[in-house]
Order: sequence, then structure tokens, then C-alpha cells
Amino acid sequence: MMEVVIAPAEELARLAADAVEELLRAKPTAALGLATGSSPLAVYDELARRHAEEGLSFAQAQGFMLDEYVGLPAEHPQRYRNVISAEIADRVAWPADQVHGPDGLAEDLPAACAAFEQAIADAGGVDLQLLGIGTDGHIGFNEPGSSLASRTRIKSLTDQTRQDNARFFDDDVDQVPPHCLTQGLGTISDARHLVLLATGRHKAEAVHQLVEGPVSALWPASVMQLHPHATVLLDEGAASRLQ
Ligand code: F6R
Repeated sequence: MMEVVIAPAEELARLAADAVEELLRAKPTAALGLATGSSPLAVYDELARRHAEEGLSFAQAQGFMLDEYVGLPAEHPQRYRNVISAEIADRVAWPADQVHGPDGLAEDLPAACAAFEQAIADAGGVDLQLLGIGTDGHIGFNEPGSSLASRTRIKSLTDQTRQDNARFFDDDVDQVPPHCLTQGLGTISDARHLVLLATGRHKAEAVHQLVEGPVSALWPASVMQLHPHATVLLDEGAASRLQ
């Protein structure tokens, strides 16, 4: 079942943080799926505030990243492992060994993907997965054409996504790695609750396809229509093409 909420951006961040908080209070050992990019930043700010001011604890929780660039050096600030540490994990005193991601520096990348899938399985699956959506409809880095049943694997980023992400790399598209490791659409779909945030008119077409399009690998986020518990949080701009 898909629930769609249209509200101002600050309200969306609070709603997503509420879902995370409710889960952690009911199940302190919960497994949270973590997205990078701009969309979840306000959610992470709100969770950090609740940690500091209201004692929200991540001490027993597990974190699972959605994706990672291949080959970015360990210290690179845009390596998603470092982004997640800076934006959420370090701010909520989340023990580093409880936050997992596919290892984009592994010599054997398929083995790293398999190890990551195993880590998710060992944790009993992801309870709540935070998601953003690309302008081309990707979730994780499952670009158009991704199998709806796919698992964690190596993918090439589309030119569109590399251009979209160049803002994190001094506006230089050549610095954006061409490859990534990403949870597959099947992996993401296994999470018990999906919470997607989208803001801005540039997301409107992708959001329209996600909510109202046919379920199709051409718009990978549309797989969420098949999910038993999906929440889609939109501002007016992102919702502007919904019928
Ligand atoms: C990030 C990720 C991507 C982003 C998407 C939207 O881990 O997997 O799917 O969620 O590219 O990015 P923003 O939020 O920066 O617009």
C-alpha cells in the first residue's frame, strides 16, 4: 500500500523523523536503511536534534547504506560512508561498526556486494528504508532498466545522474565516479517500510511515474507501488504533476 503525503518540506522531515523515532522506541535494535544526497538531510538534522535534546538513542540500532561510489579514496568527503558518518552517524553517537555499507574499495566488488546482502540478512532485514528519488526515477542507484528483482550489485551511473551529482564534486562531472554499488530494487523492496522524500519541481515527473505510472523498470521507483508499506513524502513542487 502506498500512502502519499503533501506538505511543506519542514513538515516532511518531521514526519520521516517521527517514523524513525517510533520504530527505535519500539525496537531499539532496529535496522535502518540510510540514503545520502540532499533529500534526507533535514531528516538527519531533526534526528540529531532529537538525539541531543530528547535522548533518542541509536546505540543498539544497525544502519545499512543504500549505495556507495566505486573507487573513491577512503578519505574522500563524498565517499558515501564518510557522508553518512558526517550527516547522521557521528551526530547521534551511532557506533561505527553498526553502520554498514557496500565496500566500494574492495578488490572483489561482487564479493563485497554479497557480503553486504548477508549483513542485511544477519540483522533480520531492514525495518525502515529512507529513500530519495533521482530525476530519472532511480532509487538507490538503480537507474532506468534495472531489474525489479535486482540485488546489491555494480552499476554504471547515467550521464543524467552524474550531472545531477556534479554539484557535490566542484561542479565537475568528470570527478563523479562512473560506477557505484547499490542495493537492488529487490533488496530495497524487502525492507518492511519504505519512506521516500522528494522536494522540488525537478522531481515532479519522476514522482508522477512513481505514484501514477505503470510499474516499469524504465521508472525504477515505480516498483514501490508493489510494496505493502510505502510512504511517499512530497512538497508542492514534487507533487505538481500528480493528477
Ligand atoms: C542516495 C541515493 C539516490 C538519491 C537520489 C536523489 O543514496 O541512493 O537515489 O536519493 O539521487 O538525490 P537528492 O536527494 O540529492 O536529490
